[in-house]
Amino acid sequence: MVEAVDEEVVWKVVLHSVAEADDFDRSSRQLDRPRFKIERRLSFEERSLSDLSVTGNLRAVDSYGSMHSFGAVPTPTSPVWSSFELPPMVDEAWDALRKSVVFFRGQAVGTIAAVDHASREVLNYDQVFVRDFVPSALAFLMTGEHEIVKNFLLKTIHLQSWEKKIDQFKLGEGVMPASFKVNNNPTRKTETLMADFGESAIGRVAPVDSGFWWIILLRAYTKSTGDLSLSETPECQNGMRLILSLCLSEGFDTFPTLLCADGCSMIDRRMGVYGYPIEIQALFFMALRCALAMLKSDAKGKEFMERIMKRLHALGYHMRRYFWLDFQQLNDIYRYKTEEYSHTAVNKFNVIPDSIPDWIFDFLPCRGGYFVGNVSPARMDFRWFALGNCIAILSSLATPEQSDAIMDLIEERWEELVGEMPLKISYPALEGHEWRIVTGCDPKNTRWSYHNGGSWPVLLWLLTAACIKTGRPQIARRAIELAENRLSKDGWPEYYDGKLGRYVGKQARKLQTWSIAGYLVAKMLLEDPSHLGMIALEEDKVKAPPMTRSASWTA
Ligand code: GLC
Repeated sequence: MVEAVDEEVVWKVVLHSVAEADDFDRSSRQLDRPRFKIERRLSFEERSLSDLSVTGNLRAVDSYGSMHSFGAVPTPTSPVWSSFELPPMVDEAWDALRKSVVFFRGQAVGTIAAVDHASREVLNYDQVFVRDFVPSALAFLMTGEHEIVKNFLLKTIHLQSWEKKIDQFKLGEGVMPASFKVNNNPTRKTETLMADFGESAIGRVAPVDSGFWWIILLRAYTKSTGDLSLSETPECQNGMRLILSLCLSEGFDTFPTLLCADGCSMIDRRMGVYGYPIEIQALFFMALRCALAMLKSDAKGKEFMERIMKRLHALGYHMRRYFWLDFQQLNDIYRYKTEEYSHTAVNKFNVIPDSIPDWIFDFLPCRGGYFVGNVSPARMDFRWFALGNCIAILSSLATPEQSDAIMDLIEERWEELVGEMPLKISYPALEGHEWRIVTGCDPKNTRWSYHNGGSWPVLLWLLTAACIKTGRPQIARRAIELAENRLSKDGWPEYYDGKLGRYVGKQARKLQTWSIAGYLVAKMLLEDPSHLGMIALEEDKVKAPPMTRSASWTA
């Protein structure tokens, strides 16, 4: 036990120093290649809300130059792959990842969703999905293979400019594709791209998350290479602004959260995640922060930066206040009065205590908390969603205390949330009547399967990154060990079924690329925590609005 504590201290030192590394002089543009492992990951400066005002000195934050202390940073003691032989499972994963690479006119442009030759139905698993490519891209960036990521970013932003229509209806300009495919014409010897913006997708869902992942990946690329020239191209600047126009436009909203249709993200089928799903809100927050760091402060860029800053303040406040649930908060909701009118109302959304599901009373430990699935008038979806909570940690949407509480919850409810295969996409599963009503009797989303309480190995990289950010690598290590017991043996399935995630998913694809890439990214993050910089954002220096609601995040 003592050993674990010591190790944690060392990791915190590493992470603290990596955070300091963010104070890098943005003007030096291209980084020198590193002498130290930790140095390699540093790149451009994150703009901080507090340091910025559009009218004020935008570049004031660009002039830090503290490359000092890195040589002294302790690094984890485990072997570095490049100098040792790769563990067989890692070797196998790299092999499979490379086999999934898709080429367009001689250039590597992405990775196919699944290379499952045995599967009878291909559906759209032979396409390059934007969200699925993210862990592949991170794996490539971590080994210095930047080209494929750059090609992907450029190809997809080019696809954005296509005219998108469903029947007679024209989609917004900024919509990014869910996926694309290379079509070969062997007789004419031509290759063309075909993209899906939701108009071919099952249920015709538009991928709201694609644009956010694209922005997040552009930052990861920039951060990892130190090369600002891609994000500063007119194509990327314009593409970012188009995505932002869609999600920052004014409407009838009374909340800063983003209103969505069901199934518009990783959970791309009807699952009762319409409204204000945590997954989208957390990605929205993160993408806004990433865009803020990359937008040029020219006339058009400045206008967006101003809108982003306002939205971030409001969104952060709203999420931390109304989506957060811990023991104390649950107790408050349990005792809520209803039908309160006017701005003095405590129960602002008129949540009716009788609507609190029974399971939550036993599930919620005294130690720990999380962001609930959804909050809208008289509707609080108490389900736990892994992706949204991990992204909340990585983007610093969660305060440090909330981040710790989320990790506490995972530890306290290990069996439920991790079980035998990390990590449950959502918890608990919808069953019986509720399943019928909420999913529309979806035969793929039966209880404890697929999106309905299934376990998705891809989420391992997000869990690992969150563990490292919170200084708790031992939790990631435990999860990775579980995955290593099964993943390769089972042929890298897309998802697992069952309360404990013990069974290979009923309709799961094998050789699912993001299961493979997610494992590799998790391993590399644990190996070298300085990689975290490309996918995590430090807490902003702006003081979060004072909130004294509950003990787990004010303590
Ligand atoms: C399924 C998943 C979706 C993923 C796609 C390709 O539709 O729900 O999140 O992007 O498969 O793997």
